[in-house]
Amino acid sequence: MNQEKVFGNLIDGEWRVSQENQPIEVLSPVDGSLVGKLSSMSHQELDQAIAAAKHAQKSWAAYPVYRKAQLMYKAADLLEQRVEEISDCLVMEIAKDKKSAVSEVIRSADLLRYTADVGKSLQGEAIFGDSFPGGSRDKMSCVTRVPVGTVLAISPFNYPVNLAISKIGPALMGGNTVILKPATQGAVSALMMVQALQEAGLPAGVLNTVTGLGSVIGDYVVSHKDVNFINFTGSTEVGQHISSLTSMTPVIMELGGKDAAIVLEDADLDFAADNIVDGAYSYSGQRCTAVKRILVLDSVADQLVEKLKARIERLKVGDPREKGVTVTPLVSKKSADFVEHLMRTAVEKGAHIVTGGKREENLLYPTLLDHVTTDMDIAWVEPFGPVLPVIRVASVEEAIEIANRSEYGLQSSVFTNNLNKAFAIAAQLEVGTVQINNKPERGPDNFPFLGVKSSGMGTQGVRYSIESMTRPKAVTINLASNEG
Ligand code: NAP
Ligand code: G3H
Repeated sequence: MNQEKVFGNLIDGEWRVSQENQPIEVLSPVDGSLVGKLSSMSHQELDQAIAAAKHAQKSWAAYPVYRKAQLMYKAADLLEQRVEEISDCLVMEIAKDKKSAVSEVIRSADLLRYTADVGKSLQGEAIFGDSFPGGSRDKMSCVTRVPVGTVLAISPFNYPVNLAISKIGPALMGGNTVILKPATQGAVSALMMVQALQEAGLPAGVLNTVTGLGSVIGDYVVSHKDVNFINFTGSTEVGQHISSLTSMTPVIMELGGKDAAIVLEDADLDFAADNIVDGAYSYSGQRCTAVKRILVLDSVADQLVEKLKARIERLKVGDPREKGVTVTPLVSKKSADFVEHLMRTAVEKGAHIVTGGKREENLLYPTLLDHVTTDMDIAWVEPFGPVLPVIRVASVEEAIEIANRSEYGLQSSVFTNNLNKAFAIAAQLEVGTVQINNKPERGPDNFPFLGVKSSGMGTQGVRYSIESMTRPKAVTINLASNEG
């Protein structure tokens, strides 16, 4: 990493450094060192990036699908070759532990290859009119899928590579061109990933990037007339703000969550505790799919809390450069202050700290809060940090009711040995995905991934993402009118 270098943006096949504004310094949450400098783009420079994408789109749509796929395979190989460099950058830029950083890059390369495979095999269909009452076999609709145009991909800080690639790959295979706006904290890693994609040989203008603070450039890009689709991942607050500005632009929104782990009396408590600790504290709880509350039946609550405590106290806490560390400094002081405030106010209202509760600058120790009640903010708010509330419930019905009272609806887990009961509960939970006997998680990345209520709209997952960013185009052949 050249720390003094200002990272330019990829615009129309060239890396360009903003000429107009002072660069933004990205500092490491690990030690405050400079990770890199970013261009803070002006409106005119943003216009150039969007114009490049618009200009390239028609020829990219016409580019043969097998050749698009070849570029994806090559990009995946280049990404893997740079795994050390990119993962080292992730470690310093967003304080992700090295093992998770490596796995993020490898997973992204896998996703690109899988996207190429799926993109190659997508087929259209032919429909005869006589399958509808009164219709005729003389009419036949040839339905293919066409790109939506130029996709604005906006990614969050916590997966700078994967949550950018999961938008870029499917958008490109669908024939769209892309403008990536990465999170400012995470943008250096994202730009390194884009370099690999570009070096695979993408034609100029097919993939472009824009940098600048979301609060400064965001409104301008999301409401730009030449953006045809927005694929956003981030907080519910920013997602709702974008929705309020973009009434006729189609969107996919992957937003916040408050995923519940519901633990029933017949669950294997050791297995549940292993999964919950992994789900709640990996990358310090900074995952949309982290376990963010436990709803446990009273009769097994003491046993579960004891097992959780033992496991949490074995977690390694500290510098992400050290081997085996799970809990690392949070991405910013603001995040650490927010999580600490949620913990403090819960304790003031009667929650018990079972373990944790300690802070050193932005490093919060993994914390388990027991006897959390529904009048506490921590029962409802997404902390995005290593704190896990335990809410004890008297019945399965109460667990479902509290799970569904949340404004969020990303995922839920149900731990039980009774599969029939698990399915009955799953049917009642208002979420995108229910995990039976597993922590919430996004992958495998070919599965549908979606949130309901304030957790989002639209569906991701390789095939679903390609379908979301393309639309059907029907050409109807009227055979009878051609006779004679
Ligand atoms: P964030 O603050 O909402 O930022 C997300 C992205 O939006 C960043 O690129 C940000 O740029 C940009 N942005 C900010 N204001 C904008 C505006 N007015 N217009 C357009 N873009 C704007 O979220 P975050 O802190 O990076 O990520 C954490 C949140 O994301 C959590 O709530 C988490 O649950 C959610 N998340 C959800 C999923 C999912 O799949 N459901 C996955 C990952 C994360 P700047 O960085 O420059 O501000
Ligand atoms: O932060 C949100 C990510 O989409 C979560 O992915 O479940 O693989 O950590 P993950």
